[in-house]
Amino acid sequence: MAQRKENIVMFPFMAQGHIIPFLELALQLEKTNKYTITLVNTPLNLKKLKSSLPQNSSIHLLEIPFNSVAHDLPPCTENTDSIPYHLFPKFLQATVSLEPHFKKLISELVNEQNGQKPLCIITDMFLGWCKETAHEYGIFHAIFIGGGGFGFACFYSLWVNLPHRKTDADEFLLPDFPEASTLHVTQISPYLRATDGSDSFSVFYKKLLLLWKDADGILVNTVEELDKIGLMYFKRKFGRPVWPIGPVLLSTENRGGVGKEYGISAELCRKWLDTKPYSSVLYVSFGSQNTIAASQMVQLAMALEASGKNFIWVVRPPTGFDINYEFKANEWLPRGFEERIKGLGQGLVVHKWAPQVEILSHTSISAFLSHCGWNSVHEALSHGVPIIGWPLTGDQFYNSKLLEEEIGVCVEVARGMNCEVLKEDLSAKIELVMNETEKGVDMRNKANDVKVIIKNAVRNEKNFKGSSVKAMDQFLNAALIMREMEKGASKNEV
Ligand SMILES: *[C@@H]1O[C@H](CO)[C@@H](O)[C@H](O)[C@H]1NC(C)=O
Ligand SMILES: *[C@@H]1O[C@H](CO)[C@@H](O)[C@H](O)[C@H]1NC(C)=O
Repeated sequence: MAQRKENIVMFPFMAQGHIIPFLELALQLEKTNKYTITLVNTPLNLKKLKSSLPQNSSIHLLEIPFNSVAHDLPPCTENTDSIPYHLFPKFLQATVSLEPHFKKLISELVNEQNGQKPLCIITDMFLGWCKETAHEYGIFHAIFIGGGGFGFACFYSLWVNLPHRKTDADEFLLPDFPEASTLHVTQISPYLRATDGSDSFSVFYKKLLLLWKDADGILVNTVEELDKIGLMYFKRKFGRPVWPIGPVLLSTENRGGVGKEYGISAELCRKWLDTKPYSSVLYVSFGSQNTIAASQMVQLAMALEASGKNFIWVVRPPTGFDINYEFKANEWLPRGFEERIKGLGQGLVVHKWAPQVEILSHTSISAFLSHCGWNSVHEALSHGVPIIGWPLTGDQFYNSKLLEEEIGVCVEVARGMNCEVLKEDLSAKIELVMNETEKGVDMRNKANDVKVIIKNAVRNEKNFKGSSVKAMDQFLNAALIMREMEKGASKNEV
């Protein structure tokens, strides 16, 4: 009889940007054919997830209930995508109510399996409290950071230490992470900049982050060779193993299904790109959750037009409007902009969503003007595309810093949703990167080197295992060792 497969339980935070890397990690683990994978979430999220699982997937989806109304949130709120930003703190705090349900779920899972426990529980960085349940049952518990090591090391250190509150200077170092070098106050999200750490949300948030130290280890969606100092920070901080297993990237066929509709078909996009010369097109996108101010949007439009470069620009309504709302070109873009660039064949303005991976993998693409969200960063670098950084919030500021200062594949062009941007500055940076300038050539060369590094990190051959493959093996081994020790311990008790 075939031995029963070990069960791995995974629990992402209820936000698309968290669920997507968890899903990809789940699919990656499933491919090894050694594990049963159980993804835990609330009903509406699972419904969406189900439709994006490949038909032949055997990943189990297990529901836990969440009553948003009981937490003073709008009905059927189960994902940060469906709430305005100011409700995020309330939503995050409400997710603690999932703990007893999670415990019950694990207890039932153990009972159903005749006492055989899951091999490990992998939970989100925002769900560190799952370790209580994991440790009660003697199950290995890892936190999975879907973002980068450096980005989250800066983010973590800022929240835990609030160094910007202890100085009047605009620039400062992180006390427990001087290796990150100087940060500037404009690299901190408004909420974090304003708080002195004593309001109830900040107290809660810091407590949530401090739970990371109780995990048995941390999985990071990154590549060791590119992210050494960020990984070092967590190892030093927690004295626990840190496993860089990235990039976990959603394969193209799954990406479309995660509840998104493209504003343009992949085929039309490819056909348009086919008509453009090699390395001549700028791709512009600020990701699914972010947008820029209306005044910034106008400057960007004028810069793109003035640069004369080909471009594909994914537009969303500017700040202050519902990001999922219809885009009103005649209100938010310069008069006649769309018609002109269409007439010239210079650009495609895509509403809502574009098939990003298809675009970035096309040889006509030269650079990516990006908010530096980690998925976008991986998707650009896996295809050797250099980045023009315009980070908007959270870890994006530190991703941009890492890419520019440590890796050399990015120039930052603007920062945040409130900064003043001028079309002259934007087009100068666009030309610097896309023209045959010394800097532009250097960035493209480096981006191609990084592409090879990423490719090697995930190589899994008989005689060669990349760093990310090795890290995954080490993580699974650590879980197995704990399982064996638990077995030994319970035998001794008998
Ligand atoms: C599902 O099918 C795809 C495509 O044929 C294959 O690559 C993948 O390994 C399959 N997955 C499972 C779990 O069988
Ligand atoms: C970039 O190239 C364009 C067209 O060849 C040229 O007009 C512009 O001055 C160049 N800019 C830089 C910064 O080299």
